[in-house]
Amino acid sequence: MMLSTVILAAGQGKRMHSDTPKVLHRIAGKALLEHVVNTASLINSNPPIVIYGHEGEKVKQILAQLNAQWVQQPEQLGTGHALLQALPHIADDHRVLVLYGDVPLIQADTLKKFIQATPGDALGILTAHFPDPTGLGRILRDEKGNITSIIEDKDADANQKNIHEINSGIYLIPATLLKRWLPTLKNQNAQKEYYLTDIVALAATENIAIHSTEPATYEEVLGINDRLQLAKLERFYQHKMAEKFMRQGVTLHDPARFDVRGELSVGRDTSIDINVIFEGHVKIGSHCIIGPHCVLRNVILGDRVEIKANSVLDGAEIAEDCIVGPFARLRPGSILAPRSHVGNFVEIKNSEIGTGSKVNHLSYVGDSEVGKNVNIGAGTITCNYDGLNKNRTIIGDNAFIGSNSSLIAPITIGEGATIGAGSTISRDAQPHQLTVARSPQRSIANWQRPQKKEI
Ligand code: UD1
Ligand code: CA
Repeated sequence: MMLSTVILAAGQGKRMHSDTPKVLHRIAGKALLEHVVNTASLINSNPPIVIYGHEGEKVKQILAQLNAQWVQQPEQLGTGHALLQALPHIADDHRVLVLYGDVPLIQADTLKKFIQATPGDALGILTAHFPDPTGLGRILRDEKGNITSIIEDKDADANQKNIHEINSGIYLIPATLLKRWLPTLKNQNAQKEYYLTDIVALAATENIAIHSTEPATYEEVLGINDRLQLAKLERFYQHKMAEKFMRQGVTLHDPARFDVRGELSVGRDTSIDINVIFEGHVKIGSHCIIGPHCVLRNVILGDRVEIKANSVLDGAEIAEDCIVGPFARLRPGSILAPRSHVGNFVEIKNSEIGTGSKVNHLSYVGDSEVGKNVNIGAGTITCNYDGLNKNRTIIGDNAFIGSNSSLIAPITIGEGATIGAGSTISRDAQPHQLTVARSPQRSIANWQRPQKKEI
């Protein structure tokens, strides 16, 4: 049977107390809704129908790159009413998989099992046993164990509240049944909403088979209604990531202080200290050492690279055996060739640093091409911006730039050139020569310090 996926994402998320629609809040740097759309695309080649509503234009705009069919729910009258909006877009011979925009970590494998286990003419529900089921719909079963209905927490009596089997909100239902049932739902309940959960009792009365499946771990179907749950699920996600990397041979000094907000790959025997944040696409070689409190965003590291504490790397490519930091900042377009060193309080932007070259202290290197075995002394600044244009600095192999030099771009420092410390260099420096541009030193004999005036 063909499958249509619908993701309910129109709710405001009152319990978030936020100006941002709930499904735009993030886990691991990615909007909740994006997690669900991505998972949906793994199990169904037809793009999912996303039901949007509250501040929906904002949601649509921010997530425009997602492959989805957007259908509006003009008023948020409940989950049953939300799914009703999708029906005109679904063929009668389809099965409908319902996912929730606020249940972000559901796994594709679980959904595949769920789909396989549910007979085509049955109503499938993904249920789970929660240690604390507070706030969730409970699964009611008869004495034979057959599901008879779902009762919402707000409508449940004391006995029903003791039930730990909950409704994840994920269902599999033949479209024809939905088309018959959804228009008949009533909103006579504590929240005055059209509950999708009411279709379960309808199925039971009509003797339609109701089939339940449970995920491998209940956390997969944890929903996010408030910021506490958001934080909890973030940690659950990060812990799973940490476990995955440790199993692959990566040392994490503390798996509880490890955050991946994107795609990360790490080679074996790399060790990662505490509070390191990985964002975007990060690829790390083997035998690397990442010190504490670093941020790595869209970075590629070769093997045996050491990143020392408190370094911030963004859009950098670092070859094998380099040493960076502590307190280094690499901005987009920084390319470090093998065995180069970038030390403390150094900022590099849109520059190539050649093999074995060193920029170890307090420097700014921007829009530059630095050759091999160059030594850039402390406090060197490439003056790349004239107030209007960015200009390039070229430094040849084996050059030596004395401390506290200003290199006013566009400029070329020849191969093997030496720049005297404290120079302001505004014209090209010839290869293999010493270039100095600073006022000569003089001493004035018999000079008197100014005296304090008598009042
Ligand atoms: C719902 C279920 C509950 C289940 C829980 C699992 C109902 C009535 N209750 O409760 O049994 O245990 O999920 O997480 O279905 N939405 C819309 N339009 C609306 C209302 C909601 O699109 O008018 C969307 C929300 O954006 C959200 C999802 O539906 O993604 C669930 O809505 P929410 O209000 O969070 O329902 P719960 O109270 O969590
Ligand atoms: Ca919810």
